[in-house]
Amino acid sequence: MLRRLSPVQPASFEFLPQNLAWARAQMTKFPEGRQQSAVIPLLWRAQEQEGWLSRPAIEYVADMLGMAHIRVLEVATFYFMFQLQPVGRIANIQICGTTTCMICGAGELIEICRARIAPTPHTVSADGNFSWEEVECLGACSNAPMAQIGKDYYEDLTAAKLSELLDALAAGQLPVPGPQNGRFSSEPLGGAVALAGTKGGEGDNASVALALKLRDTVKRIDGSEVPILTPWQRRPAEAEGHGDADPQPAAGRPADETGATVQEAPATSAARPVSKREPAGQPADAKDTE
Ligand code: FES
Repeated sequence: MLRRLSPVQPASFEFLPQNLAWARAQMTKFPEGRQQSAVIPLLWRAQEQEGWLSRPAIEYVADMLGMAHIRVLEVATFYFMFQLQPVGRIANIQICGTTTCMICGAGELIEICRARIAPTPHTVSADGNFSWEEVECLGACSNAPMAQIGKDYYEDLTAAKLSELLDALAAGQLPVPGPQNGRFSSEPLGGAVALAGTKGGEGDNASVALALKLRDTVKRIDGSEVPILTPWQRRPAEAEGHGDADPQPAAGRPADETGATVQEAPATSAARPVSKREPAGQPADAKDTE
């Protein structure tokens, strides 16, 4: 598929303050001079804030990372997860159109999208609420056909059920994600033959239970979230009043109560001081071969 920038572009883009703090924290995950490694997380955050990636957003991220605009444009146009066209105000409906879903009725779901949202994909509906697209296998084949709406999966769909979901979302409701035909997971339609002691229900499906707890299926990242900082940085409350706007990597700082995981600990507790130019664990002469 030819992926091009939208002909309609906003005048500018900038991260909301909380997202800016989050983005700067992500950049500290990489050795000095390698901040461009944060390009995908930053593009993703920009998309979560706006719903799609505009040209100003792509160039803003490039400027933050000190990268040529064309390099970030290459990343944004390569990965299909980045939306290069405006999406619906409420949600972009992603219908899986790969084999299993297609033979189980994905075609009918696409027809509902054409009729109720827009005749063509990547087009915002007349009321501005929705857009849709066909995507490749989303890995929920045993619950085909399915769609991803916002952050969550809606599975075992029918045309009528998808229509109901659109009505509910348009009314400001958040339908329960997961299977829509009464299954609680991907057990056989005739009932579970293993783990039969499980009672079933939303609480038994960990993904659905978490989605219900978070209630952020179609919520945009609007800056109201507590920034998720990297473990080696102070938490927001600790940073208050201490000018934490431009955090720097804390090379050599051991893992502690700030939440560094076991996997992260070796990288943050090197026995010898790490040179600002030298990635942890890489011999000084190794970089000469780059
Ligand atoms: S074919 Fe649709 S989720 Fe795999």
